Parts: sequence; structure tokens; C-alpha cells
Amino acid sequence: MGKFIEMSDALMDYIGKIGVREHAVQARCRAETAAMGRISGMQISPDEGAFLAMLVRLTGTRRYLEIGTFTGYSALSVALALPTDGRIDALDVSDDYVGRARTYWAEAGVADRITTHIAPALETLDGFLKAGRAGTYDFAFIDADKTNYAAYVERCHRLVRKGGLIAIDNTLWSGAVIDPANTSDDTRAIRALNDALANDPRFDIALVAISDGITLLHVR
Ligand SMILES: C[S@@+](CC[C@H](N)C(=O)[O-])C[C@H]1O[C@@H](n2cnc3c(N)ncnc32)[C@H](O)[C@@H]1O
Repeated sequence: MGKFIEMSDALMDYIGKIGVREHAVQARCRAETAAMGRISGMQISPDEGAFLAMLVRLTGTRRYLEIGTFTGYSALSVALALPTDGRIDALDVSDDYVGRARTYWAEAGVADRITTHIAPALETLDGFLKAGRAGTYDFAFIDADKTNYAAYVERCHRLVRKGGLIAIDNTLWSGAVIDPANTSDDTRAIRALNDALANDPRFDIALVAISDGITLLHVR
């Protein structure tokens, strides 16, 4: 047996049944997002939601920054795990997607923990820095447009406190990162970021093979 196993739909179903405790509103958010069609592939998986929630609990996170909210599944997963005084800033360009997200957050009773910011995320993040929020977040999750990932990491490095956590989604990009023939803008952006982070002395790193790959950066 190797040090890794090949994932299958059946194994994912098994994990979903025994390794994830999904709130009824999370399940509905997932089902209704799936009904939106192909775009639903942007949503994080239930096991990734459980993983983020576990990280929030383990790190005692109170201030959480999310770049890329879509229909709200990841923010909902985290909001349910936050202490009652915990707060999320949720960034997205689409008021349509986030409008859907707000209904789930309200139904799950966590809407008061989440502030949305509808604008290109770089503008919002630079606004946060100007407003003196450097070092005030415990945890940042990056899951928006891939070509801006490196810029998001730079902003998050300033916004997250020392000892805090930055999680970056899709860093395996369906395996395209090791396919030299794949030279799409998104692939090149993720590959370049991965290469840069591999030796970045500002962080401790763990790239974990959950879902499409999640890079965890501990801010030194
Ligand atoms: C992969 S989805 C996020 C999925 C979400 N985390 C979830 O669990 O469902 C990416 C999101 O990033 C948003 N986005 C794309 N470009 C953006 C930008 N420049 N600034 C802010 N959000 C952006 C999209 O509107 C989309 O909702």
C-alpha cells in the first residue's frame, strides 16, 4: 500500500457520511448550489468545510477573512465553528452570489457574524490596510480569482497576525500544476505562487491534498 490512496466517489460518500457533521442549512446550500449547474464546482466540498471549521476551533480564531464567498458554504462552515463574538469579513465581487449566501447565513442564525464586502477583493483588502487592520485577523482563506492569488497572499501576510493562518484553496488545480503542457493563466499563476511559497521564509508551509489541494501558511 502506498502513502496515499486514490479517491473515488464511493470513498467521498463514505467520508461525507462518517467524517462530516453537516448542518441542515449547509446541506441545503450545497443542494441548491448544485442546481445552479456547472458553476457549482466553485463551491468547497463538505470535508473541506469540516476541515476549515476544525482549523478555526484549533486556532481559537475570532477574526476570519474570506476572499471568495460565492453562495456562502465556506463562510457558513466557519461561522458555525466560531465563538459567539467571532467575526467574518466575506469578500466577493458578485452581489448575486452573496445574496444567496446571506439567506443561508440568516437561516442558520449566524448572519450577525458575517460582514460582506462586494467589490474587487484587492480594493477591499487595500482599504482594510489603510483603515489600520494590519495584524488583526487570526485566519484568512483565499478562494477567489487565481491570477490575483499572489497579490492576495501579500495582503493577507500583512492583515493576519504573527502566528495566524492563511489557507489557499485549489493549489493542486486538478493536477495541472505538474503538467508542463498546461500554460493557462490560472495554472501559471498557481504554479508560480506554489514555487515562490516553497521557499518563502515568512511562512511555515503544509500543502495538504484535501479536495483540490489546500496550502496552509503559518505566519512567522
Ligand atoms: C471558488 S468561488 C468561492 C467558493 C466559496 N469559497 C464557497 O465555499 O462556496 C470564487 C468566488 O470568487 C469571486 N471572485 C472572482 N474574482 C473576484 C475578485 N477579483 N474579487 C473578489 N471576488 C472575486 C467569484 O465571484 C466567486 O464567487
